[in-house]
Amino acid sequence: MEISRVTRTREEAKAFYNQISRWYDLLAGTSEKKCWEVCVQKLRVQEGEQLLEIGFGTGSCLLNLAELVGHPGKVYGIDISEAMREVAQEKVKIAGFKDRVGLRCGDAIHLPFDDNVVDAVIMNFTLELFDTPEIPILLSECHRVLRNNGRIGVVSLSKNQDAKVMIRIYEWAHRWFPRLVDCRPIFVEEAVFAAGFQPVDVADLSLWGLPVKVVVATKK
Ligand SMILES: C[S@@+](CC[C@H](N)C(=O)[O-])C[C@H]1O[C@@H](n2cnc3c(N)ncnc32)[C@H](O)[C@@H]1O
Repeated sequence: MEISRVTRTREEAKAFYNQISRWYDLLAGTSEKKCWEVCVQKLRVQEGEQLLEIGFGTGSCLLNLAELVGHPGKVYGIDISEAMREVAQEKVKIAGFKDRVGLRCGDAIHLPFDDNVVDAVIMNFTLELFDTPEIPILLSECHRVLRNNGRIGVVSLSKNQDAKVMIRIYEWAHRWFPRLVDCRPIFVEEAVFAAGFQPVDVADLSLWGLPVKVVVATKK
């Protein structure tokens, strides 16, 4: 069983998220929040840690992470959309976390970080935006920037058999409207473990009837 390919370009992705940046929180609602909250809890973030969020969007999870790492900690973020970064940066400023959050605009396929520098990486509804051959590349980048025993937390639509009909409908929409429906369900656990991570915890959730997996793993 294969996962669908992603046909929209980086420029199209950037333009799409730039366009919806001011509406994103309204569109995503609270349902996505419930999923990343599970992931954050399973990541067991400690005060003083250095974290990286890939595809931080409007920064909702990022603020939560910044609170958890406290004053001595640091949260870095990378997102391809400058408009999403602006929205997130405003929230960071209002929350008073400017000193502990560093946000960059860029393509996460090449992470602009040194090897072995972060304690945990988190991706919420972002890994499934990358095309099939890019998924192992992005995960190996995560592996590279993590310290030994560092953790990865991934929240993603999952190609789980339980919701076959919903997955088919979603994949159909992804095929015909690739710019609008830009992500698709993937084999989350398999991808994370194939990248050399050791399993820690997995949770099965659902979003609008679609299976979602939360996978937490470590770099050994
Ligand atoms: C579906 S949104 C999820 C946002 C956020 N993680 C959340 O859960 O609310 C995906 C995010 O990934 C970003 N993104 C898409 N392609 C990217 C890439 N190649 N590199 C970095 N960020 C990317 C988008 O700009 C967008 O902010």
